Amino acid sequence: MMPVNQADQVVVHTYLGPSDERSLADDVLDGLTKPFKELPPKHFYDARGAELFDRICELPEYYPTRAERAILEERSADIAALTGAGELVELGSGTAAKTRLLLSALYDGGTLRRYVPIDVTERMVRDCAEALVGEYPGLAVHGIVGDFERHLAHVPPPDVPRIVAFLGGTIGNFTPGSRRRFLRRLAKLLRPGQDFLLLGTDLVKDPSVLEAAYDDRAGVTADFNRNVLRVVNRELGADFDVDAFEHVAFFDHEREWIEMRLRAQRRMTVRIAALDLEIEFAAREELRTEISAKFTPERLSGDLAAAGLELVDVLTDPDERFALSLSAPRQ
Ligand code: AVJ
Repeated sequence: MMPVNQADQVVVHTYLGPSDERSLADDVLDGLTKPFKELPPKHFYDARGAELFDRICELPEYYPTRAERAILEERSADIAALTGAGELVELGSGTAAKTRLLLSALYDGGTLRRYVPIDVTERMVRDCAEALVGEYPGLAVHGIVGDFERHLAHVPPPDVPRIVAFLGGTIGNFTPGSRRRFLRRLAKLLRPGQDFLLLGTDLVKDPSVLEAAYDDRAGVTADFNRNVLRVVNRELGADFDVDAFEHVAFFDHEREWIEMRLRAQRRMTVRIAALDLEIEFAAREELRTEISAKFTPERLSGDLAAAGLELVDVLTDPDERFALSLSAPRQ
């Protein structure tokens, strides 16, 4: 057989266009004119925000990344054996740091054929695709540059058993109803009897541990939180006084989620040029920027069941801080 040119093993499709700038504008218009102001967390992640998030993952207080990696280090071979997957579809793939543990296990198990990363950062998808085809000879990469909430329809049809991976606990960013709806959409990517969902979820635990993870001593999370205001300033010509907002993070016991907010330290009027809009903040008024749901085993199995999925296995780290669950469509 002719040696395959590595370049032939990589395709990257981009689905981001002018409508994506609108998505920030729409979210800002909707969110900041509500009686309780809010902005969706996806707008944290410009280049600086992504860098701040990487620093969060290294913080002593922020355990989820380390806990999830520990599970993957320990159990990737089991996941590979159990699923026999030839394809890994990953939502929010980033640099695919943790993913390599899974890819290596599938590769060593002899089943790995294709990796389908989905991420909003084109550079990230391309660099990671090029690197991976070098690391895993024979691997095909079908990269999708897009928003996993809007572009799942572009995931190519599978021809081998697949794992759809949604790691890091990002499912926690959805409110309960939209979480179940999103899981249902993920379930549609799976064929009964062949495919699996691999879902990372942070677990309910001592509130002081949870709150410290979102309010670190070094102030990196506070800076990350305020970054969304810098994004709005730059992209929509707003004049937020970023330093006049205080970082707030607390565990909502009833809803079992961490909530992050930005609290205006004084009365202010913010002008958003691109929207021709003026927004008033009362002194101490809060803007919600993120929820991060924490799971009990019941909540996890309930949400999966509502999406037509059945738990196959729940893997946790030794301290039971985080869970990676494997589930499959109900037959
Ligand atoms: C990327 C959504 C999983 O909720 O823990 C980290 C984001 N926010 N610190 C999380 C985040 C503040 C993170 N996720």
